[in-house]
Amino acid sequence: IKLFSANANPELAQEIAEYLGLSMASAKVIRFSDGEVTVDIDESVRGADVFIIQPTCAPVNEHLMELLIMIDAVRRASARRITAVIPYYGYARQERKSRAREPISAKLVANLLTAAGARRVVAMDLHASAIQGFFDIPVDHLPGVPILAEYYQKKHLDNLLVVSPDLGGVTRARNLANRLGTEIAIIDKRRPQPNVAEIMNIIGDIRGKTVVMADDIIDTAGTITLGAQALLDRGAKEVHACCTHAVLSGSAYERLEKSVIKEVLITNTIPFDSAKAASCSKIKVLS
Ligand code: R5P
Repeated sequence: IKLFSANANPELAQEIAEYLGLSMASAKVIRFSDGEVTVDIDESVRGADVFIIQPTCAPVNEHLMELLIMIDAVRRASARRITAVIPYYGYARQERKSRAREPISAKLVANLLTAAGARRVVAMDLHASAIQGFFDIPVDHLPGVPILAEYYQKKHLDNLLVVSPDLGGVTRARNLANRLGTEIAIIDKRRPQPNVAEIMNIIGDIRGKTVVMADDIIDTAGTITLGAQALLDRGAKEVHACCTHAVLSGSAYERLEKSVIKEVLITNTIPFDSAKAASCSKIKVLS
């Protein structure tokens, strides 16, 4: 087995290597002065079972190209099998046409990975699990819920209810609720335009409850902060939030800090920006 990482999350790659009792194989990602990417694979991969660990988080296009080019390099160097370990799959939210003439970029990315030479994919919480079917190679789709649930089990929150911040997250919320022995409620969210969330209704009785909102992604934090406010306005006692992928773009950190949310639990599929984190004391990162 050979484990490689490009530039997106070398800390996570190192953590995985240590967990497995392996050391990282040596490779460098190099940029030419015009921005083109190439890689230097510093050891033989002939006949090896190669795993390349690279979430395609921001800057998404850069990290995606690094991954594709690294796959190409190890394929041409006669690796026996190449697994792309993509803890966060960028472009996953473009997985269907919701308006005329929209691209399905999540499928395009799947085509690119397969064409480059990936023969297996490991991903966590793909925004829509149907993305597995965009590949004609095996996809191991890992959920973040067991890790998040374990944390809340130890926290012993009283009178707990899990809330899905939109209709698309109901299965995830139910999985978390089952592990915590509780029920779910659902927020009916609308997106009048990209990156803008509007809360329409809450389905379920949230009065007096300690609520955990569970999402796959927190990006601008619009969904989760508006949802939390709506839950408190309608009688919830307090609101916690969790997600697998902390994209946290724009003013997400400040938004979370100013919000009514008590604590935001995230995982490290995307590296956590500790400099920005100084502006938000509510975030707790799980591995
Ligand atoms: C959308 O369907 C996803 O599950 C998340 O709810 C969404 O990506 C969160 O985005 P934001 O934090 O920008 O509202």
